Amino acid sequence: MYLNVKVTFIKAVLLQIMISLQSKLPNAAINIFTIMSQLSLEYNSINLSQGFPDFECPSELIDLANKHMRSGHNQYAPMAGLITLRERIANKVNSLHLSNYDPDTEITITAGGTQAIFTALTAVINSNDEVIIFEPAYDSYAPAVKLLGGIVKSFELTVPDYTINWELLKKLINNKTRLIILNSPQNPTGTILTEFDIEQLTRLVQDTNILILSDEVYEHIIFDGNIHHSMARYPILRERSFVIASFGKLFHNTGWKIGYCIAPSWLTKEFRKIHQFLIFSVNTPFQYALADFLSNDHFYLNLKTFYQQKRDYFRALMLGTRFNLLPCSGSYFQCVQYKEITNESDIKFAKRLITDFGVAAIPVSAFYNGGKDEHVLRFCFAKKQETLEKAVERLMKI
Ligand SMILES: Cc1ncc(COP(=O)(O)O)c(C=O)c1O
Repeated sequence: MYLNVKVTFIKAVLLQIMISLQSKLPNAAINIFTIMSQLSLEYNSINLSQGFPDFECPSELIDLANKHMRSGHNQYAPMAGLITLRERIANKVNSLHLSNYDPDTEITITAGGTQAIFTALTAVINSNDEVIIFEPAYDSYAPAVKLLGGIVKSFELTVPDYTINWELLKKLINNKTRLIILNSPQNPTGTILTEFDIEQLTRLVQDTNILILSDEVYEHIIFDGNIHHSMARYPILRERSFVIASFGKLFHNTGWKIGYCIAPSWLTKEFRKIHQFLIFSVNTPFQYALADFLSNDHFYLNLKTFYQQKRDYFRALMLGTRFNLLPCSGSYFQCVQYKEITNESDIKFAKRLITDFGVAAIPVSAFYNGGKDEHVLRFCFAKKQETLEKAVERLMKI
């Protein structure tokens, strides 16, 4: 038995040497979310690492999905998505941002935000195109750019407030700059773009051929009376932007993996050329359910109040610990510094937090290409009250 396993292993190694496959992403390892979640499971810890709720999505939505499955909506949807759903999205965007998107030519339903991001990048990035990414950043951006032969130009934001220095940013711009990726509210920092940022951005891209990919999946999770500055709001930016959204973040059902991309028709045309071969179309009955549910704006308009209560509750509890809270204006992530506790690297400390104290968080260095470690951890507060209480009870022991 042992000999057989050994022979199979040696054969596999020989085959790999013979075929000599060149990895497209040689430096990509198992991502930090998987590592932390596996460790969290192993130690039965409270998982505040991964970005999804531990409570249910609205039961009405489940009933609607059920209803549509039973009423025969089980075959391929149109390539761009169900027209009713696209119309409802157009109405939503129009009422929120006073901006018109044509459901026929400017809105495409995708299998979540990540697919929309990958598709948009594939549509416009060619070899050696430079793409500016603000770091710490959501982990799918850089690998997607690299897979396409593009060059990642990282702009590092730092603690405590992670604001963009637009003067410094200008130095990264040249005639190879093809696209800027924005994410507001931002994962992992919880920062948001301000009116000042929008002015600076407009000045920067106006009269250039720079495109924008605006990841707005947390658009409705924004606090303290702030408004979300969508690219859809500003004509000069709108005309060069892919705006990405995710129903998973909107309706507490990240596992449904449905989102959308809105973009002017000339960009949507290119987007759909890729979309049709990448995925063709998205889960039909869930699109029907989402279209029905979207006819009422109450749920998503209330999301900011719902999550602000959670943020405030979590922050109040955390005041009883030795962690230092960083500002959080949006998203469902709270970053903390732990300088007063230890000098350990954030990865090491995050692992010890699981093994010794039973709470899982994400080390923020994982969101920097170069692994910049400012001794910051990210906690997700999209959790039930009792989950947050139990977690902080443990964190207070540190
Ligand atoms: C910033 C950001 N963009 C995109 C996504 C992906 O959204 P989806 O689950 O719809 O693919 C996430 C998910 O965590 C995210 O945090």
